[in-house]
Amino acid sequence: MEPYRNPTEVQMSQLVLPCHTNHRGELSVGQLLKWIDTAACLSAERHAGCPCVTASMDDIYFEHTIRTGQVVNIKAKVNRAFNTSMEVGIQVTSEDLCSEKQWSVCKALATFVAQRDSSKVKLKQILPLTEEEKVEYSVAAERRRMRLVYTETIQDLLAKSIIQDDLESRDCSMKVPAEKTRVESVELVLPPHANHQGNTFGGQIMAWMENVATIAASRLCRAHPTLKTIEMFHFRGPSQVGDRLVLKAIVNNAFKNSMEVGVCVEAYRQEMESCRRHLNSAFMTFVVLDGEDQPMTLPWIQPQRGDGERRYREASARKKMRLDRKYIVSCKQAEVPLSVPWDPSNQVYLSYNNVSSLKMLMAKDTWVLTSEINKIKLYTLEDDKFLSFHLEMTVHTDTTQAFLLLSDLRRRPEWDKHYKSVELIQQVDDDDAIYHVISPVLPGADGKPGDFIILASRRKPCDSGPDFSASELCDFGQVTCLDWAPGERDPYVVALRSVTLPTHPETPERTRGETLCSGFCLWREGDQQTKVSYYNQATTSFLNYVTTNVAGLSSEFITTFKACERFLLDNKSELALSLQNL
Ligand code: COA
Ligand code: ADP
Repeated sequence: MEPYRNPTEVQMSQLVLPCHTNHRGELSVGQLLKWIDTAACLSAERHAGCPCVTASMDDIYFEHTIRTGQVVNIKAKVNRAFNTSMEVGIQVTSEDLCSEKQWSVCKALATFVAQRDSSKVKLKQILPLTEEEKVEYSVAAERRRMRLVYTETIQDLLAKSIIQDDLESRDCSMKVPAEKTRVESVELVLPPHANHQGNTFGGQIMAWMENVATIAASRLCRAHPTLKTIEMFHFRGPSQVGDRLVLKAIVNNAFKNSMEVGVCVEAYRQEMESCRRHLNSAFMTFVVLDGEDQPMTLPWIQPQRGDGERRYREASARKKMRLDRKYIVSCKQAEVPLSVPWDPSNQVYLSYNNVSSLKMLMAKDTWVLTSEINKIKLYTLEDDKFLSFHLEMTVHTDTTQAFLLLSDLRRRPEWDKHYKSVELIQQVDDDDAIYHVISPVLPGADGKPGDFIILASRRKPCDSGPDFSASELCDFGQVTCLDWAPGERDPYVVALRSVTLPTHPETPERTRGETLCSGFCLWREGDQQTKVSYYNQATTSFLNYVTTNVAGLSSEFITTFKACERFLLDNKSELALSLQNL
């Protein structure tokens, strides 16, 4: 029997020839970006059944360079379709044909929008089947949320960030004026650069951007730089055959071993040169490697007054955010430490991590039903590092209402005796809040009450848009969310994890407790019927309590969850007003 293959998966293999490489005999990243974009676009079009354009590309970290004679293998598949856009996941590996060795080069996530005759097209849903597909499907909704607020978030943080002004203290003899690195280049979009509808390929534009960025970087270091990362960016508007594209690049800042180059692209028609459209801007980080592939020390940059100095400081702020993001977002769940310090530059990523960790735990297909008492099911999951459990019940109440009640942690002491009191420390945004939870003295503990600093992130299901009725989709013979079993649909999520806050340090009177991943998932099972699941990944301090319950030596889990049901039933009608605003 043929092994399962995702129906949207597209594979591409390319032999790296001298015409694809730079002076060091390495594959140019511009060429790689063209191949990535083409493979991803073909996957998106396979799902959409119509032409698609690149809307955005998330951060890309290049782990390995690829040399002449090696093979590049690219796999792309649609992780999730939303309304008119879809997230495509791309994996790039390189292969040495002589030694059979393989390396991971990078992973990328691109968003494509389906278009027919310049109008956006409604997409059919993706039905994830394997555990990996379910995880990607579920987390894609959270990534989309982060993408859509990205520009605002960055601007907000840049405006607030206080970057030390070290410009004056640097040795002037080592400084290169930023002006010396400035590049401007024009490209004419021809038919080979565009699809059959005349829209310029995103990958082609990215390749041109990489070209000017590399020239700017080389002018600083007077050597051949290597591109390490590209920041998330968005194609703000389309470009067609016949457009002239003006690409401008300059080194914004040079750190000890790396530099940030900014590139901006504008398009104009010959007949309207003064009317330029801003297509996109991207920020790329380069290093210069010595003979042993070690990063070399770079000269300092002397920015120009005005915009140059602003970009210099913003590049430092972006560097911090990039490191935070790389650490929090791309780390495996188990590798992100408990109680990551909360700070405004990483709050978006910590919320992302909070929600995606819970969704990943939920999507595992190795959950085992351990017991069923009083219509409450207890499931457990053991993996190399953790023991996790989840409790499940159906409650006769409206799902949105249950979601509101459970997402306000201040109400939890009403049903959970492990929560003695809860104070709201900070309402971060509409859906994220930080609480200080005081718990009672636990039997067998050190006689002190416990406390937790918890980030609670709540998410409604990612809806399929106001004008996309299920019946409309059915008419086209497509799969709709309504065809799915309730457990497969997007749940309402209330995710909880510990963070540390400088304003609330650990005190001698209390034992500081920590939770890495816990929370609720709720599914609407009909009118006034909600499936409620509580998930928890047990940490060491909590393990004894969990194993006692899982082994059936205590019924506290069941008693607490029953109290939760009572609480939801008793408060059925209380929130009618706030529901109208949700
Ligand atoms: N990242 C990812 N997706 C984004 C996005 C971003 N920064 N901004 C918008 N989108 C998505 C929206 O979520 C929406 O998806 P949905 O229908 O599944 O909810 C979709 O794009 C359309 O959003 P809308 O608010 O209608 O935006 P828009 O009218 O600005 O259109 C594009 C978005 C991408 C179609 C438009 O900006 C465009 O044409 N860009 C150029 C695309 C292109 O030609 N690329 C090739 C190189 S130029
Ligand atoms: P910002 O100025 O806020 O960084 P832009 O979108 O205007 O945003 O530009 C993005 C990047 O492109 C800049 O950071 C800079 O590195 C580069 N850039 C913009 N304008 C020019 C220019 N005239 N010459 C060279 N590089 C430019």
